[in-house]
Amino acid sequence: MKKRTVLTGITTTGAPHLGNYVGAIKPCIQASQNADVQSCYFLADYHALVKNDDPDLMRQSTLEIAATWLALGLDTETAVFYRQSDVPEILELTWILTCSTAKGLMNRAHAYKAVVQENVDSGADPDFAITMGLFSYPVLMAADILLFKSTHVPVGRDQVQHLEMARDIAQRFNHHYGELFVLPEAVIDEHVAVLPGQDGRKMSKSYNNTIPLWLPEKQLRKAIMKIVTNSLEPGQAKDPDDSALYTIYAAFANQEQREAMRHAYREGIAWGEAKQLTFELINAELIPGRERYEALIADPGRIEETLLEGAQKARAYATPFLARIREAIGIRKLK
Ligand code: TRP
Repeated sequence: MKKRTVLTGITTTGAPHLGNYVGAIKPCIQASQNADVQSCYFLADYHALVKNDDPDLMRQSTLEIAATWLALGLDTETAVFYRQSDVPEILELTWILTCSTAKGLMNRAHAYKAVVQENVDSGADPDFAITMGLFSYPVLMAADILLFKSTHVPVGRDQVQHLEMARDIAQRFNHHYGELFVLPEAVIDEHVAVLPGQDGRKMSKSYNNTIPLWLPEKQLRKAIMKIVTNSLEPGQAKDPDDSALYTIYAAFANQEQREAMRHAYREGIAWGEAKQLTFELINAELIPGRERYEALIADPGRIEETLLEGAQKARAYATPFLARIREAIGIRKLK
């Protein structure tokens, strides 16, 4: 095993958008090219099941996300790329961890608490629409992480608490049964841009302001034209640091392009022209991937095969480790 194991899961609840691309997919693929790092990236379909009870959407999203990472150049020879549900050891470990995880710890999870609060505010039963899946979500995530002795876990800020819980769960287990688990660290890259969406708030499915990654050219242009700007006229100076459009442009631009665009803003570039340039820049970056994506999505059998190969590699590590864990907790051969 290499020194660092970087692991992250992608919940399969929808089509990838520009924010996912800039904030996670691109940096993760780049990081996986570092020879000192073992990267493990997986499709968290059992996590998706917590929010998504539509079987067709489940399959479609898994297909689209897998095709996206492959189209964008993830090398599955160096990175282990798998689907969570193809590695049953994860679920086995989930139960083992569930049995030593304090319920009180789970009570404090932000995501769970937010739903309880909504219920209370609307006068409903506090448990209304809350499944055990939602409640136990952080234990499944701890199992994902601990099973591969992950040292570094790149996540968004909203997931930092889940990482702390994974550490708590690991520590408690280690204390009782012996030092089996490695304590993982959350990695939040300050340099990676949080992309605004069309309305200027963070690009997120829950705000309904996303620009899907693989829109055909014309629709991509249309979506970019819809990004909010202000009412400044052509010729009037514009502030790039107060512009969602500029932030989006900058996430795709190199240093030189950024400086030129900042200059153009101050010189009063028309919003329409700034949008056109933003479209051209993003589109140029996505063209090669879009072609590969179309080819991949048309051949789900090949993606399936790639994922199964990834699961085999993951299990080659997970199976013997889980055997040690079972041994440690006393689930052993009788003779
Ligand atoms: N919960 C994470 C999210 O919503 C996805 C995820 C599942 C994950 N398992 C993981 C992330 C393990 C990192 C490590 O973004």
